[in-house]
Amino acid sequence: MASMQAVTPFVATAPGKAILFGEHAVVYGRPAIAVPVTDVQARAALSPGVPGAGVSLVAADLPAADGSPGGRRYRLRDAPADDPLRVIVELALDAFAGPIPEPDLLVTITSTIPIARGLGSGAAVATAVARALAGYLGYSPQPEEISQLVYEVEKLHHGTPSGIDNTVIAYEQPVYFVRGEGVKRLAVGANFNLVVADTGVASSTRAVVGDVRRRWEADRERYEGLFDEIGAVARLAKAAIQRGDRHAVGRLMDENHDLLSTLGVSSAELDRLVGAARAAGAWGAKLSGAGWGGNMLALVEPEQAPAVATALRAAGATNAVMSRVA
Ligand code: MEV
Repeated sequence: MASMQAVTPFVATAPGKAILFGEHAVVYGRPAIAVPVTDVQARAALSPGVPGAGVSLVAADLPAADGSPGGRRYRLRDAPADDPLRVIVELALDAFAGPIPEPDLLVTITSTIPIARGLGSGAAVATAVARALAGYLGYSPQPEEISQLVYEVEKLHHGTPSGIDNTVIAYEQPVYFVRGEGVKRLAVGANFNLVVADTGVASSTRAVVGDVRRRWEADRERYEGLFDEIGAVARLAKAAIQRGDRHAVGRLMDENHDLLSTLGVSSAELDRLVGAARAAGAWGAKLSGAGWGGNMLALVEPEQAPAVATALRAAGATNAVMSRVA
């Protein structure tokens, strides 16, 4: 193990993600499609820590408990055992170094990925931390190794994750994902341009996924039928994306949004933004992620993107960024 003084700064990043098709149904074994959103990033930087203090964590964007500047700062050993940052640090040290004394390290996390908005902020932060620790330990992990570690953290965020978020973020590629099957990278036949717009409403994935599960338990036949329909849309979308057919992809996004509304995971704000994007000329639009808030996606021609973004802001979006699927 390198001594504390010998630690040179290690920095790693990870992108956000957007689910293009199949959210929720993917938890129940149907296929889904997700893409990295590189316009937003989580970043972890390692630097020498206080001798003897072990690992200290600085969540630079979060408020400190006592209101002091510089973000929330705490020692790993003082954090609850299920603190997501503590969990990923312990898992990564164990995976990449085996049983070693806790190193004296400062792990500083910053992120431009909005929290609780369906863009995978938790998985991206955990990915950046795991990558930075791997670099510090002189280890070059495969995407799948990182993905598996981050999946453990995803379980803390919500009990029954499908694994799609950790997969698309660790691989940084468009993926066609079926729970329990190997990762299939999705070849994109032509570039797609998205506007990703935020309702401004925070939404807990755990709450939405839990609500869907309760309703599924009460009426399995109805919800299995809806999941089948969403899965069929995702399968058609895979083919449309591969042949670069924007028209078909947009129409399938509209269909997927309507099915998600029927599933009970849309909201008045999401429906308003989806309607505004369609009226402004988008090929299609849908909510993305768990729903009840968070972000929506509009598929646009590049020259349309500014007009669609303006229409989305006028309809209440607190933010609208362009992203390219290539
Ligand atoms: C969350 O990004 C996507 C959901 O399908 C949950 C999951 O797949 O674990 C809602």
